[in-house]
Amino acid sequence: MKIHKSSDVQTSKIGKGTTIWQYCVVLSGAKIGKDCNICANCFIENDVEIGDKVTIKNGVSIFDSIHIQSNVLVGPNVTFTNDLYPRSMRGLKKSKKTYSRTTILEGASIGGGSTILPGIKIGRNAIIGAGSLVTKDIADNAIVFGESARLQRYLNKAEMETIQQQMAVAKRSERANALKEVKRLCKEFGFTAGMLKGALANGRKKK
Ligand SMILES: CC(C)(COP(=O)(O)OP(=O)(O)OC[C@H]1O[C@@H](n2cnc3c(N)ncnc32)[C@H](O)[C@@H]1OP(=O)(O)O)[C@@H](O)C(=O)NCCC(=O)NCCS
Repeated sequence: MKIHKSSDVQTSKIGKGTTIWQYCVVLSGAKIGKDCNICANCFIENDVEIGDKVTIKNGVSIFDSIHIQSNVLVGPNVTFTNDLYPRSMRGLKKSKKTYSRTTILEGASIGGGSTILPGIKIGRNAIIGAGSLVTKDIADNAIVFGESARLQRYLNKAEMETIQQQMAVAKRSERANALKEVKRLCKEFGFTAGMLKGALANGRKKK
């Protein structure tokens, strides 16, 4: 995990391998997964969950009730919203507000400068074109763009295959990295493969 010293990161729930670059603010309730890349000038509020291997490009604010699953890309300056009929509550009696949940499903990408209205679900692998205004749920594998972003087409076979290949490569490299880490730890603590197998077998017996 790497957090640039200019960032104010208050949560401890950040996965291994995640990088948070310059001038970000992350509040204490936020949960961020493994191997994410949070670029400069981002703000992440409390009720926010971010999966693994997510890329958040520069200048994105992620407010309460926004949940982002693994392998999602959020383009630069995307605007998430969580209150459909907002009012400034300054000077009024505070009551706890509940927001409708926005979920960005696994593998989706949101083009730069898009705005996502509250309570929206963006489907798996969907692509939101740059500068879109998303007012309705978006289906899995859909490519949408434009104001009140409408379905243009679905991902074609070749595009789907590319995504599957990328996922397979990512899985393989994840396994290889895990194995490398086990080997490194064994070396550091003087374990042999036989000792490790024995410990694992004992653990299984105890269960
Ligand atoms: C939407 C997108 C994925 C392309 O999808 P596509 O189905 O392959 O679309 P095409 O490139 O074939 O373009 C089809 C038409 O839509 C238009 N179009 C493409 N993207 C558009 C967008 N975001 N908004 C409005 N119109 C768009 C094209 O100009 C073209 O118009 P024409 O038929 O009048 O010539 C791509 O344009 C896009 O917006 N990608 C996101 C880029 C981005 O923000 N990346 C962020 C990370 S840096």
